[in-house]
Amino acid sequence: MISVEQNQFHLSNNDISYIFHVMPNGQLGHLYYGKGLKSGRDYSHFQTYSNVAPNTTHPYEARPDFSLETVKQEFPSYGKGDFRESSVLIENEAGEIRSDFNYESHIVVNGKPSLEGLPASYTQEEDAETLIVTLKEPSGLKLELLYTIFTNLPVITRSCLVKNEGGERVTIQRLMSLNLDLPDSDYDMLHLTGAWARERHVTEKSLSEGIQRISSLRGASSHQHNPFMALKRFDATEHNGEVLGMHFVYSGNFVAQAEVDHYSTTRVSMGIHPTRFSWSLQPGDGFQSPEAVLTFSSHGLNGLSQSVHQWTHRHMIPERFRTAERPVLINNWEATYFDFDEKKLDDFATKAKDLGVELFVLDDGWFGKRDDDTTSLGDWFVDQRKLPNGIGQLAANIKSKGLQFGLWFEPEMISPVSDLIKTHPDWVVGMNNRHQTLGRNQKVLDFSNSDVVDYLYERMSSIIEETRLDYIKWDMNRNITEPFSINLSNQGEFYHRYMLGVYQLYDRLTKAYPHVLFESCAGGGGRFDLGMMYYAPQAWTSDDTDAVERLKIQYGTSIAYPLSTIGSHVSAVPNHQTKRESPLSLRGDVAYFGTFGYELDPSSLTDEEKEEIKQQIHRYKQIEPLIRKGTFTRLISPFDQDETAWMLFDQEEGRGVVGWYKPIYSPNPKNNQVLKLKGLDRSVDYEVNGKQFGGDELMSNGLPLGVEFNGANHSTSERGGDNQSKIWFISEVDRGGVCDD
Ligand code: DGJ
Repeated sequence: MISVEQNQFHLSNNDISYIFHVMPNGQLGHLYYGKGLKSGRDYSHFQTYSNVAPNTTHPYEARPDFSLETVKQEFPSYGKGDFRESSVLIENEAGEIRSDFNYESHIVVNGKPSLEGLPASYTQEEDAETLIVTLKEPSGLKLELLYTIFTNLPVITRSCLVKNEGGERVTIQRLMSLNLDLPDSDYDMLHLTGAWARERHVTEKSLSEGIQRISSLRGASSHQHNPFMALKRFDATEHNGEVLGMHFVYSGNFVAQAEVDHYSTTRVSMGIHPTRFSWSLQPGDGFQSPEAVLTFSSHGLNGLSQSVHQWTHRHMIPERFRTAERPVLINNWEATYFDFDEKKLDDFATKAKDLGVELFVLDDGWFGKRDDDTTSLGDWFVDQRKLPNGIGQLAANIKSKGLQFGLWFEPEMISPVSDLIKTHPDWVVGMNNRHQTLGRNQKVLDFSNSDVVDYLYERMSSIIEETRLDYIKWDMNRNITEPFSINLSNQGEFYHRYMLGVYQLYDRLTKAYPHVLFESCAGGGGRFDLGMMYYAPQAWTSDDTDAVERLKIQYGTSIAYPLSTIGSHVSAVPNHQTKRESPLSLRGDVAYFGTFGYELDPSSLTDEEKEEIKQQIHRYKQIEPLIRKGTFTRLISPFDQDETAWMLFDQEEGRGVVGWYKPIYSPNPKNNQVLKLKGLDRSVDYEVNGKQFGGDELMSNGLPLGVEFNGANHSTSERGGDNQSKIWFISEVDRGGVCDD
């Protein structure tokens, strides 16, 4: 519900309230964000006008206690006495700052307008309401702030649109999608950090005076810092307490920060990174910011994740993939790398089909003359040395086995050794007459140029049609250096225009071929963000397929993203990233909690392993609907101890699955090991791997893990040694839903 009374805007639903008002000087002040408050009341006293220090500035002369330095704001601008980091910095050609954005009007609409050229959450009319507040600057600039509140979820999205209705050219130097001024700083900041093969580890620290910031200047959202952060009250845990979450629906350069000032208030901002960003607006032009997402939980971090999971599933990923079953795939990358031919692939696919695999994905190396990573990116024509009968024929052969067919592309890249670079040296990012830095032996295509996007669309659509393609893995293996396009007069626009080009290609392809399942990838998880998920409902989580490493990576990723987006595969041992030898059981038990598949050579499997894989696939088919529809709960964190546990449960169906992992054994372990489950019905009896338990006992006493080897119990121990893992299927007894095992 959105109510507007006496200059006060109150967005609320059953869970949350977001309240702001028009301040005495005409700007917007923030009043409250958190657990729902009664609507219809005046909350203007939540704004504190303080007896400020003698040197404080007073932009509004009628009230000497009014200073922008101390009030909580919605859309702070730089240059009028608020010395914290601002949401907006716009200047005219003479360098004068345009900063007096005052309330002009507002409207409320059902549903949510789309954002031109950008990925953004979508709704049905009844799912959400949107408040559009228009602010006006004396120079003629207008700013529309869009706030959408979702009816059944504790989520608010925000974005802004700047329109130049004045008579002079201006330049936007900074535009944050989100500003949230909080009255205190009693929070821990949680964010997801990492590196290639170590993505999204959980990092937490208490806020302190100054700016704590995560960001990317890599031209991609990055392996290093995910565009997500949470602020947790000091007493918040996984299951209790207040947590605020912020996501950015964007895949390029970003900043997300919490600034604690000298009055211990906190300003959260999130937006396109202002470094190397500037956008020229001629009279009549507009600029749309990407969307930021605000979530609130009073049930700890798990509560926040569960809301975000539901919201992403219902309002962000392509609608069709909410209900479409995700296929079990096999990818040939780690099995063959670049070394394959038609016969090898045919054999690979036949054996994979025998195991129960549903989708065969041909990874890098099928085009140009690509025998290693030094050539051919950009030359999206089949390599007839490897596939003499063409890619269409290969696809037809694969499909005739009853498999779906998928292909790898890296559309944004070009190899210095390629036909494309000979014809289009001008399509490369960076200046032609200067050194262009290589990354993985490749350069970046200038996606700010629509000719480049058109070329890729033509190439990719022709291959999609020739192969009747079911799946695309869209990779991106290096970051951008020398950000420069020969077509732009303002190079500050390059990074964002690059992203708009990427989104445009995604948009055109997903609209023309809505049945194709896209999986985004950037050297593993280097662009794992909501912007990508709008087009690609799953993402390759990490190039690190080691099961033990994956516990942390998938655990961390689950904080901000649903399991249906987390590509998780069983790979060969010794693992190609860590050389670790984990048993097939552990590898499967970890990979079940995501969109499942294999990265191994089926010809190298023993008969025993083949049988185990058949069982794994059979099991996963029971888990797959839970990945899309179930509620995921983290039970034990691998960041706290050498043990991990999590569960998925679908309340409607009354069934779920629990996973528990202990990769390293330590001698003489605890007696009475149990795992306390969550989210069950206390009054209901459940069958868990063939035994019956009450929901109350499973949650209060816990599920017995089985006797662990302690040196003396040789004959009775059920578990022991390294690499322990266990999966339990759980179903309500009355529904008779007996599961595998
Ligand atoms: C990086 C990806 O993450 C891998 O899975 C694989 O597709 C390679 N690129 C291929 O070059």
